[in-house]
Amino acid sequence: MMKTIISVIDGDVNTNYNREIFEKAGEVIRGGGLVAFPTETVYGLGGDALNPTASQKIYTAKGRPCDNPLIVHIYRMEDLNRVAEGVGREALKLAEMYWPGPLTMIFKKRSIVPDETTGGLDTVAVRMPDNPIALRFIEASGGFIAAPSANLSGRPSPTKAVHVAEDMNGRIDMIIDGGSSVIGLESTIVDMTGKTPMILRPGYISGEMIREALGSVDYDPAVFGEETGGIRPKAPGMKYRHYAPKGELIIVKGEQSRVIGHIREGIAAAEASGKRVGVIVASESENCYDGAPHIINIGSREDEETIARHLYSVLRECDDKDIDIIYSEDFSTPRIGQAIMNRLIKAAGHRVVEV
Ligand code: TXA
Ligand code: MG
Repeated sequence: MMKTIISVIDGDVNTNYNREIFEKAGEVIRGGGLVAFPTETVYGLGGDALNPTASQKIYTAKGRPCDNPLIVHIYRMEDLNRVAEGVGREALKLAEMYWPGPLTMIFKKRSIVPDETTGGLDTVAVRMPDNPIALRFIEASGGFIAAPSANLSGRPSPTKAVHVAEDMNGRIDMIIDGGSSVIGLESTIVDMTGKTPMILRPGYISGEMIREALGSVDYDPAVFGEETGGIRPKAPGMKYRHYAPKGELIIVKGEQSRVIGHIREGIAAAEASGKRVGVIVASESENCYDGAPHIINIGSREDEETIARHLYSVLRECDDKDIDIIYSEDFSTPRIGQAIMNRLIKAAGHRVVEV
């Protein structure tokens, strides 16, 4: 086991104290090591994107299949063309509107990007994160950071440094602690290599926002897929079980009083068989499950950004409480509900009960 250094960045990234942390992180990356860092979406597990050995180390540290490509993170616009080929006007328009931000675009890759980073694909995913610590870290590291979410493969993505430490302590060189991620869901992924831009993974930047910017947008059918079985997703990562807590998660959707009734029956049955039960609820229905021992309030339905921001830490909280069966209400909120439910349904292994 290696020693993992945890460094906290507090306040302005440019203080002398913080500068030393970035210098150290840059040294680790140039030496082929791994550094976890905060972004506005989730924490990333970073390595030098142009170093095949570093990318291999990322797969090992995460326990992730190496056919699942990594996103290359950049800190300035002029670096896009160094890794991507054929960047068109539409992509430049999206970059101008939403970079830095929670948007990843897929392009034909240039040969400077090793196959290890793209899982053998001839395309590359690129993103410029909207977090001053992330940008400063990428700059200090030479400009190209390959980073998946910094969780062990299959676990909920980390939105706080303590989540990263839970999964990665002893497996990576360094964790930069920059507080909680403000968005809490991974970036929207858009494939820009076809005629019409195609969303491969929904996120905070919605399909509607992209349609407004470019006039049209397609969705990879796997985005809506009930099961990934029949449909092969274009983003290889979307075929794996993801974000999952250790307990069995079941989503219950339908008219509110029936949802509550169904979950209350479930609680009674599970407790009768000696199981620990938890319920993930919106604050509006927090008091509707009286007697249930583990009610976890994810936030108000009126505030979907808070629901998104809390989702992964709520799933981890279920693990901390050793919950065997987790019921969740449905959170199909208007704007980012598609992204929230995409993650929650995967975390539930597609167990959705309609009542
Ligand atoms: O918000 C985010 O995107 C975070 C932060 C750290 O930036 N990163 C992240 O990475 O979510 P990861 O590795 O957990 O998810 C990347 C997804 C995977 O589903 C992968 O299959 C897909 O992007 N992907 C990467 N490169 C691709 C490519 N060339 N073609 C299609 N899908 C690709
Ligand atoms: Mg991930």
